Amino acid sequence: MAITRIEALTFGVLDLAACVRFFGDAGLERVETGETGATFGTPEHQFIHLRMADDSGLPPPAAGAPTIREVVWGVDSARALEEIGAELSKDRTVSKDSEGVLHARDNTGFGIAFGMTAPQAADVGSQRRYNMLHSVNRWNEPLTSYQRPRPMRLLHVTLDIPKEGHEAAIDFYISRLRFRPIDEVLDTGTFMQCEGDVEHHNLFLCFRPDKAGFNHVAVEVRNFDEVMEGGNYMIEQGWKESRVVGRHTLGSNVYRFFHCPAGGRIELAADMDRMDKSFQTRTWDKNPGHHIWSLKS
Ligand SMILES: [Fe+2]
Repeated sequence: MAITRIEALTFGVLDLAACVRFFGDAGLERVETGETGATFGTPEHQFIHLRMADDSGLPPPAAGAPTIREVVWGVDSARALEEIGAELSKDRTVSKDSEGVLHARDNTGFGIAFGMTAPQAADVGSQRRYNMLHSVNRWNEPLTSYQRPRPMRLLHVTLDIPKEGHEAAIDFYISRLRFRPIDEVLDTGTFMQCEGDVEHHNLFLCFRPDKAGFNHVAVEVRNFDEVMEGGNYMIEQGWKESRVVGRHTLGSNVYRFFHCPAGGRIELAADMDRMDKSFQTRTWDKNPGHHIWSLKS
């Protein structure tokens, strides 16, 4: 079986109008909006579903509202889906909905689901080229502004899990769902890659003293400039940055984080590491540090 990516995220929200405005400002494409919810998409055909927190059709929350209610993982074949269902049925309830999507819960209590992946190739437009000394990639072509973020895809989610029992909570994804640990940080948590992907991480389980919660979703934008310009646009729309811009140590991506009215934060991310199967899992006794650099003012 191979899980290949995040297919969708479902949030239980309290202020739907604010969430609709937020994800629109973040550059997600509005697919539908109604009185009880809204759906946004990426050019790669992944979705963010917003539903009212008291919607009885939602999986139970692992933390107080507003928060994430389910992560839907995309798998690459009907056989893989069947294998996941059989594996999880060994020790937990698995239900199948009318569209063939399997629903269950992870060890922490986060809703998890599995469905056939349906990717589209995002049209990223013309690539921005860079000049350096005698390496000239851009002739006679002044740059123009991105003006606002236009994420191409949902890149990863970070979930907070309680410290107690964190080993089993992390091992569930590795042993049962075949995620591959890329960076195991023994005092923080584990960065994991889907079996069928090459990202540094699609999932980071980060342990906290005593509680579970939604930490953030990262969306991938084209490059460093778009992280900066897109972040500036978010600030102009009144959204609050939750930390200063920087470049992560693990994953190497540049980032800007904003508080999200659907819970947790959103990360505008670019230039993350890709790891193929030749990369050996790194184990760190202590966290090597949050960032390579961050903006000083
Ligand atoms: Fe992140």
